[in-house]
Amino acid sequence: MADELKRGLEGVLVAESDLSYVDGEVGKLVYRGYDIEDLARGASYEEVLYLLWHGSLPTAAELDAFAADLAAERAVDDDVVETVRALADAGERPMAALRTATSMLSAYDPDDDERGDDGETALRQGRRITAKIPTILAAFERVRQGEEPVAPDPDLSHAGNFLYMLTGTEPDAVSEETFDMALTLHADHGLNASTFTAMVIGSTMADVYSGVTGGIGALSGPLHGGANQDVMEVLHEVDASSKDPVQWVKDARDEGRRIPGFGHRVYKVKDPRAKILEEKLRDLSESSGDTKWLDYTTAIEEYLTDQGLVEKGIAPNVDFYSGSVYDSLGIPVDMYTPIFAMSRVGGWIAHVAEYQEDNRLIRPRARYTGPEDAEFVPLDER
Ligand code: ACO
Repeated sequence: MADELKRGLEGVLVAESDLSYVDGEVGKLVYRGYDIEDLARGASYEEVLYLLWHGSLPTAAELDAFAADLAAERAVDDDVVETVRALADAGERPMAALRTATSMLSAYDPDDDERGDDGETALRQGRRITAKIPTILAAFERVRQGEEPVAPDPDLSHAGNFLYMLTGTEPDAVSEETFDMALTLHADHGLNASTFTAMVIGSTMADVYSGVTGGIGALSGPLHGGANQDVMEVLHEVDASSKDPVQWVKDARDEGRRIPGFGHRVYKVKDPRAKILEEKLRDLSESSGDTKWLDYTTAIEEYLTDQGLVEKGIAPNVDFYSGSVYDSLGIPVDMYTPIFAMSRVGGWIAHVAEYQEDNRLIRPRARYTGPEDAEFVPLDER
């Protein structure tokens, strides 16, 4: 049993956690016992961060103090802005730019030399990182568009301030609320690949900047966070082709392509986050009168359901609908995965801090399948 090989660590329990629970058979997600639907509809992203980092929902006074502390950390050093500018000029991809700039933040952290062993340092530094990531992302997008970065406004919410820094205009209430809901939905999700990456790094007692930088790298891949961008690119591809969405999916399946936004290691039914975002997309599309992406995604989902894919457990995941919602907010496609990082950073930090409270170095092993007893031949005789 000890030597059983579990490819991709599927189903392996590596830690205890109070943070989030995913029931993939019934499609349920909770953060510290609260159903994701209640949180998405009733709590702000700041409340969810407080819940994840401090163990309970805040009172109004606790939330005010917490949100003010977070907002006070939004500004980034001019050197970081200059680096962001250089990365944008070099044509760097947003996720890679975010990875580089996040790593750089530690140079300006007043307690970067601290190494707490109780998770407290991770939370303190994590709050700074969480506050600054939106500033980095918005600055990158502005510079790339030939505009100057917009300074953060501490009077706006985390979601509202990001949209403000991105566009230079305060968002309307519907946009702010929609974006805030998307942040809440993506904040935590058990030991997904990027969270586990951050935990592995945290388990060496490296600083949380290293963990978050690693998490961003893991999230960028198309099998994980990168899928939300892929979904939108597919929708654009369908739009640009002469095909209808169903024909496009048929052809893609015939070519052996995977459909981004479908399938999940844990969910065997439709992801509860996808259901909430689908409903949001429906509201937004109906109020704007532009139902194109809703029509495409609905047609694709119906076709794949008819084909028995959903019954086989390959159902829509959170990425299937998030892109269309971001599109309705006017956010560029290649910013979708960075926005995922902007939210999931809350979960990465919570898991690192929780794990470090009772740390044990994470160090699995591989079954060795290489040669044995190979005879060494010196270089000049090979
Ligand atoms: N389209 C078509 N077939 C699929 C898809 C898909 N999107 N996903 C899985 N399958 C099929 C596989 O081809 C495989 O079939 P087979 O057994 O006949 O070979 C079977 O389902 C199992 O697939 P695995 O890759 O072994 O399952 P795994 O648990 O490793 O995959 C993953 C999960 C990586 C998410 C996969 O479903 C996928 O690639 N999906 C598309 C990318 C995506 O949407 N990623 C986002 C995930 S959610 C998130 O990270 C936020």
